[in-house]
Amino acid sequence: MSDWFTRDANSIMSTYSRLPVAIEKGEGSYLIDVNGKKYLDLFTGLAVNLLGHSHPKIVQTLKEQGEQFLHISNVFLNKPAITLAEKLIKQSIEGKVFYTNSGAEATEAALKLIHKHSVAAGENRKGVIVLKKSFHGRTLGAIKLTRQPGVYQDFPTTDTPVYELEPENLEMLKATIEQHKPAALIMEPILGSGGILPLSKGFLEGAEALCRKNGVLFCMDEIQTGIGRTGSFFAYQQTNVEPDLILFAKGVGGGLPLGGIIVAKQYADLFKPGDHGTTFAPSPLSAALGNTVLEVLLEDGQMEKSKETSDKLWTELAQLKETYSDLVLGIRGKGMMVGLVLSAEAPVVKDVQKRLLEKGFMVDVTQQTIIRLLPPLTISTAEIDLLISAIKEEFDRLKEEGLEA
Ligand SMILES: Cc1ncc(COP(=O)(O)O)c(C=O)c1O
Repeated sequence: MSDWFTRDANSIMSTYSRLPVAIEKGEGSYLIDVNGKKYLDLFTGLAVNLLGHSHPKIVQTLKEQGEQFLHISNVFLNKPAITLAEKLIKQSIEGKVFYTNSGAEATEAALKLIHKHSVAAGENRKGVIVLKKSFHGRTLGAIKLTRQPGVYQDFPTTDTPVYELEPENLEMLKATIEQHKPAALIMEPILGSGGILPLSKGFLEGAEALCRKNGVLFCMDEIQTGIGRTGSFFAYQQTNVEPDLILFAKGVGGGLPLGGIIVAKQYADLFKPGDHGTTFAPSPLSAALGNTVLEVLLEDGQMEKSKETSDKLWTELAQLKETYSDLVLGIRGKGMMVGLVLSAEAPVVKDVQKRLLEKGFMVDVTQQTIIRLLPPLTISTAEIDLLISAIKEEFDRLKEEGLEA
């Protein structure tokens, strides 16, 4: 009964390429496996565990809300969800929230709202512009917006036309808007699984201006970048844009499923009763945890504190790039969302990931040669030092073995 790997392979469909670790417990920035081995978690469940594991305030909220109620129907008012919606609006745009259970469902809700808007506007606007390599989810509607061939495949999908745009190409955006008269533009301010690719301030502001001029809804997918991960509450706030619609998920539920859209007030009443819905979202427990996440980040100052630690991380990474200039082609991202773009071949980078794991460091690899670091916002500077020396050891080995390029 103790061979978790065989049992996993025999009982769970193999849609994920697993790393060979079975988790027993989480503590702060660490995960501990069934054999008692500790790992520094730079994966955070793919940008979810903003406060690390077993944060005392999260545990306390779980207990308190667990003693109240875990689920009610959406026909009754859900106090934690109302409070959280108010806070999310206060941190972003004047408008209203629709809750979902996941990021992909947030994208589905956005697609429905965009459709409602184009019908209501009577402008015969149809379709959505998205960026090449973007990721917006895997449900049958969202998958069409996800411009990654391995994900997209030939699954049936929505008939909403989708137009693919090169990041940073405002000329192409202008031409696409003029030619196709789309209803909306949806972008991640930093493409996550597309390779930790931040969009420039100039591009975001230029894109917003083109959208405003042409009546195209300007939407930001902040599912991975949001809730403090990049140094501001939402990443778009490091520019002067103001989205019409913001998608959020991942970190907001403190580790439990929760997502949604924040819709600017002029579009917020497009959904009428019956237009959209779900049994579970917003789970009162996820929403209560969301309130706690925001309390820790904003009222207890964790977001500010994490800026100091991420500054330290970026200083160390800049040095790393200088020391290993043949191996590190670039360091991209912001705050606690980092991509180390390596010159090595994909199998070599996969092997680096495996070796780091053996040393007790969990890192992700995206776009085959980019090491993705998504530390908890609560990571300490001492833990960053440990990570950097482990990466250095690995890079020294690659140099010695001549595996840089
Ligand atoms: C930017 C972005 N949008 C949407 C999604 C989909 O979210 P979920 O996996 O919760 O459906 C993700 C997930 O990685 C994401 O990073």
